Order: sequence, then structure tokens, then C-alpha cells
Amino acid sequence: MLIKKPNKIKSFEITSERNYINRRNFIKSGCLIGGGIISDNLLTAELPSQPFEILKNIKESQYSTDEQINNIIDVTSYNNYYEFGLDKDDPNLNSRDFKSRPWTIEVEGEAEKTGIFDIEDFIRPYQLEERIYRMRCVEAWSMVIPWVGIPLANVIKELKPLSSAKYVKFETLHDKKRMPGQKSGVLRWPYREGLTIAEATNPLPILAVGIYGRALPNQNGAPIRLVVPWKYGFKGIKGIVKISFIKNQPKTSWEMAAPNEYGFYANVNPKVSHPRWSQARERRIGSGVFASKQPTMLFNGYEEHVAHLYDGLNLRRNF
Ligand code: MTE
Repeated sequence: MLIKKPNKIKSFEITSERNYINRRNFIKSGCLIGGGIISDNLLTAELPSQPFEILKNIKESQYSTDEQINNIIDVTSYNNYYEFGLDKDDPNLNSRDFKSRPWTIEVEGEAEKTGIFDIEDFIRPYQLEERIYRMRCVEAWSMVIPWVGIPLANVIKELKPLSSAKYVKFETLHDKKRMPGQKSGVLRWPYREGLTIAEATNPLPILAVGIYGRALPNQNGAPIRLVVPWKYGFKGIKGIVKISFIKNQPKTSWEMAAPNEYGFYANVNPKVSHPRWSQARERRIGSGVFASKQPTMLFNGYEEHVAHLYDGLNLRRNF
């Protein structure tokens, strides 16, 4: 597999995992600002408008893995983002001129707080957190990525869904001029994804706005994308412009394209094969061509946090 070095990344951005971990400078809960102690929840999130700009006031998270993180080159040059092409290096090469500002998020449906929000206003009330998550793609490869984002559960709480809201649906920007891949019929656009309310209010999912302490690059879903670490990567919808609270299970883009291959739940499960390949093992990107594949874990290793969400559900049928 060819992994191209993206020529837009400057040398300071080519961060080895060791250097990155060493230079992280987190705020601690109850930190000193201007001579006084303030608590985390007074810190609001500021979102810079350009990819790779440094994000401030990031909190560490108990949910991060201490596995070795992938190099930023892997994370930004080996991507799936069909709005910018089908090959792994297309999103990096073809999204360079994409402007992610101005950007609004529309909230609609079964919730008390609906409307259209500027991304900066949408993010501001929350505390940015770093979540180093194992990510597992349905294509049987994996990476460990230091995301920066806000817990989706906090956002949902703030939007106050009604009791009739059983699912949350997400949609990507639909604009053929800015996302030329949408001229092809490979998927039904806009890209759409969904979670049950119980999944969306679990502590693990985040709305990510950054990686490696910097604002998200376009190819990773700038300015805001979903990250759900116990599910296959395609649930992590990028470039979100709309969030809907709905009564019935939404059809997702991949389900519409191939319902026998990609289900709504898409939980990582080594025992349930994709119809065309096994999911029992995975290749960790960056581990070298001679490295053997590693076993895939149920719920991608997040079983203790999420298994209860599926009590009584047949995971083979609800794949
Ligand atoms: N979101 C949109 N809008 N379009 C896409 O094609 N691809 C998905 C997901 N989100 C995709 C998307 C798939 S298949 C994967 S594996 C992840 O994005 C990849 O995220 P990454 O490139 O940041 O690793």
C-alpha cells in the first residue's frame, strides 16, 4: 500500500508520537489563570478557523488508551472521505482548497433547543478534551488517534431531546462544488449516519474538532466530525452540518449502498465477518510491512463501557 507524504504538512506538524506526548501541556482540573483557581467548566472552547492551528485549554481524559499513537502522516494521508475521492490518498490531495468557514450546524427535530448555530457558538459552552482512541476501520485496519473534541453526551444534554427522540441523525455538507466527489453516484449524498439516543449519550462518543492538539485538517473532517471508538470507522461522519433528533431509526449512507454488508449498528465484532472478508484480525497502520496482524477486540476493546447498550440484542443479526 502506497502511503504518500502529504506535501502540505510542514515539518513542525510531522510529529512523532513520542515528541507529541512529551510536549502536550494540559490544563488540570482546577487550574491557575490570572492568579486565581478556576474550575474546568468555566473554560470555554475556542475553535480556530484554519486546519492545524493550535487548540487551547485541552483537558486530559480518563478514556484515553496508552497504546502507541500513530504518526500524524498516517492519520492525515491514509483516509476515507468519498466526498474528495475514493483512494486513500485522495482526501489529503483533493481537500486542500476546501474552506470550512463560515460553517453552521442545524439542529432539528424532537428537541427543545433547535435552530442554526455558527460552529464557534455551537462549540463554545464545552470543555475541549483529548481522547486517544483506538480506531478500527471496516476494511480491517486500525490506528490510534489523539482526537480533540467535546463529549457528544454533553451536547445532547444541552440540546434537551424530547422523550420521543429515540435516534440522533447526522448529515455532512451537501455541496458538489466544494465536495467534488459528490458528483459521483458511489453513495447517496449527503453522507448520513446515526446513533441511538443511548449510544449518543454514552460517555465515549465525541464531536472531534482536532487531532494532535491542533484544529482538524480537512481530510479528517474539518471543522467537526463524529468519533465513536467501539464502532467501525464509517460511523465517524465528517464535515457535519446537521443533527436531527428523530423517532425512527435513520437509514445510513452505507446501509443504503449495501444493506447486506453495512448495518446500522456497525459495532466492531471479530466474530461477525463482513460478507467478503473476516473481521477477526486487523492490520495496525504504521506497524511495518512485516508486522503480523493483531486480533480484533469485541467493541474494539471498549466492551466495559458499551456492552450494556446491547443487552438482549442479537449482534449477529443487528450488525
Ligand atoms: N464521512 C463522510 N462524510 N464521508 C466519508 O466518506 N468515510 C468514513 C468516515 N467518515 C466518510 C466519513 C470512513 S469509511 C472512515 S474509515 C472514516 O471516516 C475515516 O476517518 P479518518 O480519515 O479520519 O481516519
